[in-house]
Amino acid sequence: MIQLKLKIDNTRGFISENEIKLFQAEIDLQRKKVYEKTGAGNDFLGWVDLPARINEELLKSIESDAAKIKSNSDVVVVTGIGGSYLGARAVIEALSSNFYQAQHEKNENPLVVYAGQNISEDYMSELLDFLDDKNYSIIVISKSGTTTEPAIAFRLLRKHLEEKYGEDVAAGRIFAITDASRGALKTLANNKSYKSYVIPDDVGGRYSVLTPVGLLPIAVAGFDIRKLLKGACQMQEFLAREDSVFENPAALYAVVRNILYRKGKTTEVMACYTPNMMYFTEWWKQLYGESEGKDQKGIFPAGVNFTADLHSMGQYIQDGMRNLFETVVRVENPQRKLEIPHDEDNLDGLNFLAGKRLSYVNKMAETGTILAHVDGEVPNLEIILPSINEKILGELIYFFEMACAISGYILEVNPFDQPGVEAYKMNMFALLEKPGFEKETATIRKRMTE
Ligand code: PA5
Repeated sequence: MIQLKLKIDNTRGFISENEIKLFQAEIDLQRKKVYEKTGAGNDFLGWVDLPARINEELLKSIESDAAKIKSNSDVVVVTGIGGSYLGARAVIEALSSNFYQAQHEKNENPLVVYAGQNISEDYMSELLDFLDDKNYSIIVISKSGTTTEPAIAFRLLRKHLEEKYGEDVAAGRIFAITDASRGALKTLANNKSYKSYVIPDDVGGRYSVLTPVGLLPIAVAGFDIRKLLKGACQMQEFLAREDSVFENPAALYAVVRNILYRKGKTTEVMACYTPNMMYFTEWWKQLYGESEGKDQKGIFPAGVNFTADLHSMGQYIQDGMRNLFETVVRVENPQRKLEIPHDEDNLDGLNFLAGKRLSYVNKMAETGTILAHVDGEVPNLEIILPSINEKILGELIYFFEMACAISGYILEVNPFDQPGVEAYKMNMFALLEKPGFEKETATIRKRMTE
């Protein structure tokens, strides 16, 4: 049974039940396109039945490599960008202590650090300094195998690792996750005999967290990938079964956000009240931004961390331009218990809260904020999770993936391509004088001097 719940009560006043009901035929059509693979980008629908068909041999191999990395490494460097790292990071941060990086020496699992998401000279230099006296391994992830940011980071890391251990031992500490046959990373992995995993052809980067792309780093960090897949699998089965827009949370989420969009609510703000979920918001931003933001259309996905951002972005959400709606990911139960103590002097005036749990105060902040935002004409959706664990995160991942595909089809875009990300690369390569870009280099230089 799935545990995730979607609550749309606080969109009433902005949209009616009847408006949602009128979408049933559209939902039937769009779901059919997803399941029968007849819509735009239909060669990238491998993620739809992925949780149920992941094979035991692959899982055992991932678990055995994770055990190997744990046995010889204090640190693992996950090297990738966009869909090739955000999913793993989202799950790892959600399940880890907020202070796990500071305390990693006490942990039995390696510390996961990240590279290849920026081209900052300071970041890479600091990372290499940090790795100087550590036993470490590298998981390098790139579907295309040619993405500049992780390729540069990997070149530097590989050199560092080879200088530390020698080429042969270093090779045993490098794990490559890439396309089956194409790309420079695959050639390198073959030539150097790195252990490699395949990203299926029909699964795009931002839909790949339940492939080795996410599963290997998550397993290395010490989390149960079988439970994660079980949650995703249960959500997969539930969403495939439920036809009614009111019973199928992915369809309902897709419909509600599209109705709001058509009414001018063009920005969706995802709000979390627990800092561990920050990277989940980052993953969601990529999934929705890259899937829907095209053809001059799409809801802009933004993220806030409450209550911190109530003291910065709260003003805008309450009172700024009224083109927003808000989606709160509500976590009902924390892992730990902490009560506010009684204080004899009560100089801070907080004794009225003595004996109350922090989660109670957080919940009141959440409820009060939702009501205030609704009063300020910000419709609110809530995705309710009983607690944070591997299974519920698996449900959440699959829920968002399916909803994104349906939502993109309602919007009449191809939710599985990303033509827009090429524009910056073209200019960067032209400016860097990459061989093959001579014409673009001449054009951009002229443009800059005019
Ligand atoms: O979702 C996507 O396809 C992108 O975000 C990619 O994951 C990202 O650009 C990294 O690409 P690659 O894995 O080919 O290095």
